[in-house]
Amino acid sequence: MDRRDFMKTTGTLLAASAVASPLAAEAAPHARAVLSLNRRWRYSPKATPEALTRSFDDSRFDRVTLPHTNLRVPWHGFDEKSYQFVSVYRRHFKVPAVAHGRRIFVDFEGVMTASTVYLNGTKLGAYRGGYTPFSFELTEHIDWAGDNVLAVEVDSTERADIPPFGHEVDYLTFGGIYREVSLRFVAPTYIENIFAQPKQVLTGAPQLDVLCFLESPDKKLEAGLALEAALYDGEKLIATTEQKLEAGALPESTTLHFAKLDGIALWDLQTPKLYRVVVTLSKNGRAYDNDERRIGFREATFTPQGFSLNGKIIKLRGLDRHQTFPWVGQAMPARVQKRDAFILRKRLKTNIVRTSHYPQSRHFLDACDEYGLLVLEEIPGWQHIGDEAWKQVSIDNVGRMIRRDWNHPSIVLWGVRINESHDDHDFYTRTNAAAHALDPTRQTGGIRNKYGSELLEDVFTINDFGFPLRAPNHPLYLNTEFIGHTYPTKTIDNVERLREHTLRHARIHNQLASNAQYAGGIGWCAFDYNTHGNFGSGDRICYHGVMDIFREPKPAAGFYRSQCDPSEEVVLEPAFHWALGDQSTKFDEAVVCSNCEHLKFYIAGKLVAEADPNRAEFAHLKYPPFTASLAKFDDNWGDLKIEGYIGGKLVITRLMSGDGVDRRLVLAADTTRLIADGADATRVVVRVTDEFGNVRPFSDAAIRFEIVGPAELIGDNPFTLAGGQGAVWIRTFEMSGEVELRATHPYLGMQRVHFEIQPAKDELL
Ligand code: GAL
Repeated sequence: MDRRDFMKTTGTLLAASAVASPLAAEAAPHARAVLSLNRRWRYSPKATPEALTRSFDDSRFDRVTLPHTNLRVPWHGFDEKSYQFVSVYRRHFKVPAVAHGRRIFVDFEGVMTASTVYLNGTKLGAYRGGYTPFSFELTEHIDWAGDNVLAVEVDSTERADIPPFGHEVDYLTFGGIYREVSLRFVAPTYIENIFAQPKQVLTGAPQLDVLCFLESPDKKLEAGLALEAALYDGEKLIATTEQKLEAGALPESTTLHFAKLDGIALWDLQTPKLYRVVVTLSKNGRAYDNDERRIGFREATFTPQGFSLNGKIIKLRGLDRHQTFPWVGQAMPARVQKRDAFILRKRLKTNIVRTSHYPQSRHFLDACDEYGLLVLEEIPGWQHIGDEAWKQVSIDNVGRMIRRDWNHPSIVLWGVRINESHDDHDFYTRTNAAAHALDPTRQTGGIRNKYGSELLEDVFTINDFGFPLRAPNHPLYLNTEFIGHTYPTKTIDNVERLREHTLRHARIHNQLASNAQYAGGIGWCAFDYNTHGNFGSGDRICYHGVMDIFREPKPAAGFYRSQCDPSEEVVLEPAFHWALGDQSTKFDEAVVCSNCEHLKFYIAGKLVAEADPNRAEFAHLKYPPFTASLAKFDDNWGDLKIEGYIGGKLVITRLMSGDGVDRRLVLAADTTRLIADGADATRVVVRVTDEFGNVRPFSDAAIRFEIVGPAELIGDNPFTLAGGQGAVWIRTFEMSGEVELRATHPYLGMQRVHFEIQPAKDELL
């Protein structure tokens, strides 16, 4: 369905999909309510002073849902100046009667890059920063009975006063209110934050300190307040603890202590067990405010013997991730953010990700907790350090990042240095002090690219793009980037390059595995990403990913994937496509990434080669790549069959067609159930394959899409495959129902995917 057609009919649909109010359902007059404010925004790409006033008629503005990008752009080859403008977002709302008497806050999770916020024409303030959350209190300016209008002027230019800007950076930031917004209704004294700190987790009887941060009028606590913390495993209550609060000055925090918890399962990579901590603030015995966080019990430290999780050394094998996507920049909803964590953990089998180079979506981090993917999270910045005011913003970013994310068990290291910046003793003394003061439970790192740079952090974290890597120069040592720009590789590159790209990743990990003092390495990078004109391949893309920008694999992805235990998945990924004349050396060095013990290769049914893992070159890898010579096929060309063996048993077979014919159009959605909230989205992969499912890398067919039902396409239509593959995203409207996506190839016919769009449950104000 076309967006404009949908917008014409949308009013009645919205009313129909509203659900019962959680506010109305609350019995306690002061219990907290958080209502999503993602839907029903009005947006104009042109900012005028009138558009910020209360009485302005915004009926002709676009109607949009968050996450929103201020401009959709081509997936490559565009001018990044196009999205650098000032826009206006407006949102009308009425305060539900039951909320009267409460304090009201608006919480923005991420707006690129600077926001000036108005309520009913009164300026509440401005916030500089695109990656960190901010809030404003609305209470004083609220119209309790009538229509309220929140207006946000969003400056998406690259302002030199805001990190990462001041100099050109190697990525794009895009624009708009690209993360969620909510309204929060709380009691006058309320829980501002919670930091749960598991202790003694390896003793078998962990303890838990729950630090509660309260806010109150005049920084005073009234009489009769008490805090209670309850620890839950799902819905099952495990333990509670409580403490009375003294009237008087507001303490910085109050710690609720759980001693000796029995039967706690630890959070680890295979079983990332999560618990909930629910904190209730009561007044004279009645609930007054409440909030909760998800936590995990684990002990994570960088040691001179490597990275230790729950007392066990784990070699870190990871990739850097940018959170940008084709066409919509950073404006992707929870489901799509979470999918990236799934891809990193379950498809690429990595155990750590670095959120290069900024705090990323909370949904992504939630998914890292759920999948058991460790995280190095860092502050926004890239090489450039600005003036004192800029540094103040950066130090403030340290606090916002940590205070937002300190309960994620997946996060094991805070990056508190601007990526690859020069030394600045005073500045980095302050960022480290800020991190340590807020979070005594985690070490800091600071990503640098010079071995001799000053180390003020706990862990020496370095981008070393050389091979071989330099020896560790510090007992706590982690490589945070390698390969990247030294070997950009596209899905359409020739097979020698794709193979070398794969082997370079393997060689680095082999070296990292050779010395316990390397905690491991995080390669540059997971996914190709959009960038400025002076970086990348000249089409606004850095082709540095082991996957393309659509999150589809290049052969190097096969190396990462093959490093998992075969009990998790038996992997066999050729680093080539099967075509007689496409290798200058006629396949005398065919590389296969696999966790098998032995491989057999057959061409047209005839055994032509056998291979064991290449331990000569990759002595330190548990699952070295295989190299085989397939050159002796003696005119016996045909399909290639590769068999993988473990313990003498055939465990996997891979077939690759020798026909050289595009046989199939494949259309595969990450999920077929979506929510009708106007923002939910899923990727739909499209590829052309041979008869066995192998991508035909030179298919550049133009695929035509048609959507029947209430959803829209994020992507080009027609969309030309790149490297035989690609993807579009389907985004819902605020309407439930059935959707069919049809994709038509010029010769291979049509494929369809059906989606069920379920009613949204979020509250509409
Ligand atoms: C690094 C930088 C990354 C990216 C990479 C490309 O120097 O930290 O952001 O630009 O190079 O290989």
